[in-house]
Amino acid sequence: MATDELNAIARKMVAKGKGILAADESSGTIKKRFDKIGVASTFENRRDYRELLFRTGEAMRSHISGVILYDETIRQDAADGTPLVKLIEAAGSVPGIKVDAGAKPLAGCPGETVTEGLDGLRERLEEYHKLGARFAKWRAVIDIGANMPSYNCLNANAHALARYAALCQEAGIVPIVEPEVLMDGAHDIDTCYTVTEFTLKETFQQLYYAKVALEGMVLKPNMVIAGKKSPKQASVSEVAEKTVRCLKACVPSAVPGVAFLSGGQSDEEATAHLDAMNKIGGLPWALTFSYGRALQAAPQSAWAGKTENVAAAQKAFAHRARMNGLAAVGEWSKALERAA
Ligand code: 13P
Repeated sequence: MATDELNAIARKMVAKGKGILAADESSGTIKKRFDKIGVASTFENRRDYRELLFRTGEAMRSHISGVILYDETIRQDAADGTPLVKLIEAAGSVPGIKVDAGAKPLAGCPGETVTEGLDGLRERLEEYHKLGARFAKWRAVIDIGANMPSYNCLNANAHALARYAALCQEAGIVPIVEPEVLMDGAHDIDTCYTVTEFTLKETFQQLYYAKVALEGMVLKPNMVIAGKKSPKQASVSEVAEKTVRCLKACVPSAVPGVAFLSGGQSDEEATAHLDAMNKIGGLPWALTFSYGRALQAAPQSAWAGKTENVAAAQKAFAHRARMNGLAAVGEWSKALERAA
């Protein structure tokens, strides 16, 4: 597809005050989320839960530019028979699809993974496009540990991301390129900076070799942040400054937008960090959210699988969507969070 058409989709995905809802939990991951709220992970419960999100009209129309779906969901109908994809489109939001097959152990590199899913991807993308997907997601996972990541891990993951992205663009689908440096370890923020910088440099080098049009993609990176188990946690302003500095050093300005993952940050931390970065301003790309947990933890616990809680769950989702929409333009504050 022509780069300008891909660019138009990408710009819609990072439109002012909007961001992406990552609702593409695999069957295993959604089961883990449902276990926490005591809900059985059945076909109908997964449908009811996702339907309530996509029917949160005001939040979807005003703050959710796109929704990442899982294979089951892109084929699923709402309880009244309307395809879930149609609910998303009716809200003016763009349907997207997770196409990777997950992170698998990387031979020769104990403890590290490479994301698989390239075999047959051209054909799958063609089908997903017919089902309504206009963007896709592929997540590479980089773990920080003793002698990790290895260059082999960074290179193999970046190469796979680049092959995926080129196939997406061929199919008229905007690739979300997601190299996630995990925040699970005990490392400090500067270690995260060094690893994120290396990861992004390698990723953009491979995207160049694969002839990916940067104008027709969206980057989904981690923030530069201390590991969850680090005794030295960084302040909001330090996370914002270091993340912006790292991105400026690695992400060409031809990329229309950067949409962060939340990666295990609390709802409010993820919002505060995004807001602080946009308050710095003067950035060459849109900086927004593509959150899974940080948008869904609140509605999931409000819902708890009960029909009578649907309105409360929608209210909780609408609130997080609005807070993140404000953060995407640097207009969020703790006071607004409390006022709600
Ligand atoms: P989190 O925001 O929960 O990290 O999920 C975003 C995502 O899509 C990870 O691939």
